[in-house]
Amino acid sequence: MAKTPMMEQYDQIKSRYPDMLLFFRVGDFYETFYEDAKTASAELNIVLTARGRDDGDAIPLAGVPYHSIENYISRLVRRGYKIAICDQVEDPREAKGIVRRDVTRVITPGTLTESNYLDETSNNYLAAIYYEKGIFGLGYVDISTTDFFVSEFGGDSALRQMLDEFGRISPPEVLISKELFSTPGFVLDLKRCSSRPLTINRFEDDYPLDYRESAAFLNSHFGTATLEGFGLNEANSKVSLVAACAIIKYLYETQKSSVGHIKRINVRMESNFMHLDVQSRSSLDIIPSLYGVLNFTKTTMGARLLKTWLESPLCDIAAIEWRQGLAGEFLSGLNLRRRCAEILGGIYDMERIMSRIALKNCNPRDIIALKKSFDEIKKLSGLIASAAAGSGLCEFFGKVDDFTALSELIGRAVKDDPPLSVRDGGIIKEGYDAELDDVNKIAHNSKEWLLNLEQNEQKRSGIKSLKIKYNRVFGYYIEITKANLGSIPENYIRKQTLANAERFYTPELKEMESQILNADERQKKLEYELFMKLVEEIAAHSESIYHAARAIAVTDVLASFAEAAAKYDYVKPEITCGDEIEILEGRHPVVENRMNYMGFINNDTLIGGGHSHVQILTGPNMAGKSTYIRQVALITLMAQTGSYVPAKKAKIGLCDRIFTRIGASDNLAAGQSTFMVEMIETANILNNATPKSLIILDEVGRGTSTYDGLAIAYAVIEFILSGGGNLLDGARTLFATHYHELTVLDKTFSKVQNLNVAVADGESGVVFLHKILPGPAGRSYGIHVAKIAGLPEQVVGRAADILKSLEESDEKTNITRLLKKATGARHKVDENQLDLFEAPGAKPPAIPEEVKAAIEKIKSININAITPLEALNYLSQIVSLISPVQISGK
Ligand SMILES: Nc1ncnc2c1ncn2[C@@H]1O[C@H](COP(=O)(O)OP(=O)(O)OP(=O)(O)O)[C@@H](O)[C@H]1O
Ligand SMILES: [Mg+2]
Repeated sequence: MAKTPMMEQYDQIKSRYPDMLLFFRVGDFYETFYEDAKTASAELNIVLTARGRDDGDAIPLAGVPYHSIENYISRLVRRGYKIAICDQVEDPREAKGIVRRDVTRVITPGTLTESNYLDETSNNYLAAIYYEKGIFGLGYVDISTTDFFVSEFGGDSALRQMLDEFGRISPPEVLISKELFSTPGFVLDLKRCSSRPLTINRFEDDYPLDYRESAAFLNSHFGTATLEGFGLNEANSKVSLVAACAIIKYLYETQKSSVGHIKRINVRMESNFMHLDVQSRSSLDIIPSLYGVLNFTKTTMGARLLKTWLESPLCDIAAIEWRQGLAGEFLSGLNLRRRCAEILGGIYDMERIMSRIALKNCNPRDIIALKKSFDEIKKLSGLIASAAAGSGLCEFFGKVDDFTALSELIGRAVKDDPPLSVRDGGIIKEGYDAELDDVNKIAHNSKEWLLNLEQNEQKRSGIKSLKIKYNRVFGYYIEITKANLGSIPENYIRKQTLANAERFYTPELKEMESQILNADERQKKLEYELFMKLVEEIAAHSESIYHAARAIAVTDVLASFAEAAAKYDYVKPEITCGDEIEILEGRHPVVENRMNYMGFINNDTLIGGGHSHVQILTGPNMAGKSTYIRQVALITLMAQTGSYVPAKKAKIGLCDRIFTRIGASDNLAAGQSTFMVEMIETANILNNATPKSLIILDEVGRGTSTYDGLAIAYAVIEFILSGGGNLLDGARTLFATHYHELTVLDKTFSKVQNLNVAVADGESGVVFLHKILPGPAGRSYGIHVAKIAGLPEQVVGRAADILKSLEESDEKTNITRLLKKATGARHKVDENQLDLFEAPGAKPPAIPEEVKAAIEKIKSININAITPLEALNYLSQIVSLISPVQISGK
């Protein structure tokens, strides 16, 4: 059977959007067909039906009502689908034959602008990646804010660095060249480092892959002769421009209206920023935890910027000091800060409104929000000019334009509380446009005329219940109940009969009806045109409005820094080009927050700058080792964002990178074992750290057997201490470990210092003092922690016995001595002792049969499958197996 004309139209449109879900407007529904219908039905949980026949097969179909389409779209886009909306583009009443339809909107995860799809406080980027001759070029744009960046990565770790940056921006959608798409593992790498679902597209054939061609295309887009004005040149963006060009090409395809609001592009020079890899960002828990503590921003623009600043601290002293200076002005001016916060609270997301304006999908309430924001900006300018005259803040904010004229224009044009829709009228104020006022007058007068007519007809006919009514199908009519039908006037013409009434019209009413309806239609059309004209007028000022929006965001973040500093008693750190980290009475910003600022023990830090630059921190479980080393990393990071820091005093030599390898975290989803992950991360640190880096290592080696782990931990520290072939000589390093054996390193290397966390033996057991002291830790207290964690008395007691025996056997298996021997440390070694690393000629002691049996038993346990109760049972069986053996081996 041949296809219906409508299905032919569908096929023709769908062929242009093969990789998108096409929603096709039919009457009051948006329909999907074929595979799209199956997908939509499964993802949206809507009914899959069938219609007509396509060569004998029924066509699968699933539809959603037109008025709830937005909700369905947002669910699909969040899951990574791309969507094309096909509308009827002519009035069905005027259509000759089949109604014309066309795609009016394409929505993809990376090109969202509608506020109901977007997380207000995060950027939503569309990225592109191109690779050429060892260099990765990355480009990314947020079309809802117009932030557009390129950056490049070269050298041995180009891929890794690019992935780290990709992870930072975590775009929901990326375009990659065909070569990259077919490079094994690349797509998987991208998905792995991204923190949200990722839609991946290949470059189309017509995207240029050449620097010159790309530059020419971008120049034509920006209307510029050269990109040098944006700071882009062949040296810093040869490869990334190809990516940027792909982005603009893609936007031209997907955004039906213009993308002309993207007016500038910035090069992000990686060397200006501290590099944080994906792992370090997540183990320092910058977002949400640190952000959660520091965020006092009042606008969504400020919230987004604060996240960006925290995730990419600066490496430029002047820029850091500029931020500190302005934050300082807010800190010392309590009133300024309070008033400013109040005003900022009234400012809307101007960046996103402006993008909706540029893309012509803004609504009247957006415009009112913009007007209110303009008014608040004026207040803010006034406040800053008077309260902070002559200050850096005043100079900075002085560059923001005045929008009084625009605000007044909007105030004259748009009603204060307009509807959401642009097409249904009710937007424009009286007195703004003479023609509209005339049309409105007709509509108004005719309504009065109708009232008069009703009264007159009631009188004329003597029917009191006579009513003039309106509905969409029949227009205006006179309704008369059945009981009164006897007395209707002559000139009434019957229109419709109901159960207990009849409806009529008169020639007079008919004439007025067409006048009223015409006026109504004209009013809506006129209002729409006037509104769009106003929108264009606003769009003409987009550059200065974006500039103001950016200034608001910066002001908001700096005021937020000041608020945090005041509230939590932070101090301004001194930033130097040296290699020191000197912190007096430092605190962990998140842990102290969690403790409600009560009872957190501060600690000093002195690394580099004449002090040892490698510190080994030992101490019992729960003592606060991890807390302390993270605290140093977080204070350093905060300092380089321009924020104040939780300390009494701090002096930070700029760090180019912070590496953290913390805890034995599993990455089972990525198919890697705990230990593998640990080693990959450690390898990354050793391969990429520089003398300016800060390295935080927590329990490296914990993921494997004691001896392997100890050997690896030792070798890692030794590598760092010996400068790794000078590549990372002087890198500031904090190493927290349970391996007390590592504390002998200070005998061999002068650059290393031992620290420990103080504990006291109180009356009711061990008391953690959380104070960092010089020197290695005494003993481990692991069993004490096991006890307070609630392990059964019996198990704790038995463990204590075994520990005692083990400690007594120290003579024979003294790992420390062996370690010294194995590593050639200058130290007198008893040749007769057992060497566990490599023992020429040493005979291993015979293992008692019971112990062998116990080992077998342990090996047979499937850790992933047993319950805690079964585990205890196993433990008791093992204990009973070995209890006859004298563990000390004497
Ligand atoms: N300086 C401090 N002041 C107050 N409480 C602290 C401090 N440092 C840590 N704590 C508390 O001690 C707890 C344990 O700290 P942390 O995890 O740093 O110990 P740890 O030494 O790394 O232990 P483990 O060896 O088991 O990894 C923290 O959750 C916190 O509640
Ligand atoms: Mg720890």
